[in-house]
Amino acid sequence: ESIDKGTYRHYMIKEIFEQPKALKNTLLGRTGDGCILEESFGAEAPAIFDQVKQVQIVACGTSYHAGTVAKYWLEDWAGVPCSVEVASEFRYRNPVVQDNTLFVTISQSGQTADTLAALEEAKEKNYLATLSICNVAASPLVRQSDLALITQAGAEIGVASTKAFTTQLIALQLLVIALGRRGKMTAEKEKELVSNLMDLPVFCAAVLQLNNTILEVSNHFTEKHHSLFLGRGVQYPIALEGALKIKEISYIHAEAYPSGELKHGPLALVDSDMPVIAVAPSGDLLEKLKSNLEEVAARGGKLYVFADENAGFRNDDQVIVINVPHCPESIAPIIYTIPLQLLAYHVAVNKGTDVDQPRNLAKSVTVE
Ligand code: G6P
Repeated sequence: ESIDKGTYRHYMIKEIFEQPKALKNTLLGRTGDGCILEESFGAEAPAIFDQVKQVQIVACGTSYHAGTVAKYWLEDWAGVPCSVEVASEFRYRNPVVQDNTLFVTISQSGQTADTLAALEEAKEKNYLATLSICNVAASPLVRQSDLALITQAGAEIGVASTKAFTTQLIALQLLVIALGRRGKMTAEKEKELVSNLMDLPVFCAAVLQLNNTILEVSNHFTEKHHSLFLGRGVQYPIALEGALKIKEISYIHAEAYPSGELKHGPLALVDSDMPVIAVAPSGDLLEKLKSNLEEVAARGGKLYVFADENAGFRNDDQVIVINVPHCPESIAPIIYTIPLQLLAYHVAVNKGTDVDQPRNLAKSVTVE
């Protein structure tokens, strides 16, 4: 596979635009006849999945955010309890391991020191089995796990992870379906989820069309020093990921909050110098999010709302709405990640930072 930048200025933007293909490749051969093929996780997977009662996910950085999305899906769709933790914490504490817990690591590189150490710790405890979701087949993480699903994102060079994250979300959704079909998930629900996954590359290509709009909006951020990202429910981890992207490459301080927590602190920070970015697809929590955003506007904050085109958000002096093509709720976290990646990219380019090699950061943290 060629890893030059082609016609792109940076690896990061190339990798953002590669997502329709990366998502398609990650799904390839892993579904059939509207169902997932659970042997994609390994020949032993069906027998192991039969016994799973809980899931413990461990990862770092962007991969940790993917795990946080999966917790919402696992508990909601599959009825399987799930804990998610950053590897550097997990490895040094003494967690209670309940019977029949599947230990899942997520990693782009498969060589992050803390994630590997957490896996090693886990193997000393009574986990049912270990499973890794990883972009590098020939990596220590995959080698040391009982089961694995390789994301097919292709080589990711930009330090800020993009296509690895969205493909991890696909892999996690396959895992959620595999566990869910043994419990509360109906065959109809599985068919609906798989059909939405199949449509994902097309929705992804559509949302990439927002590139020029986001380029214009990015000019508003160049002189800012702080920003606040908001999301609710499964979009909260997407807000975390959006904030991480901005921090990593544009060096703007960014925090992410579940919007319901606004009044418990961050609202005190809101003024006209603090852009507030909200992710607002359609769904049950939309009305609640709208009232949270009114609280921000009432305090003079400038809002940038990435909203479902049908959600009824309107531009005004304080609110800039970036309409995102309507998409099924089950794939919305993947779709809404993409405009936030583009925003971080354009802000960083405007600021003239080293987009692909941001200061002080490494692509893989292989030492503690
Ligand atoms: C570094 C990278 C991040 C990545 C994290 C975890 O911090 O800069 O982009 O998310 O490591 O890496 P992994 O390879 O385990 O996903």
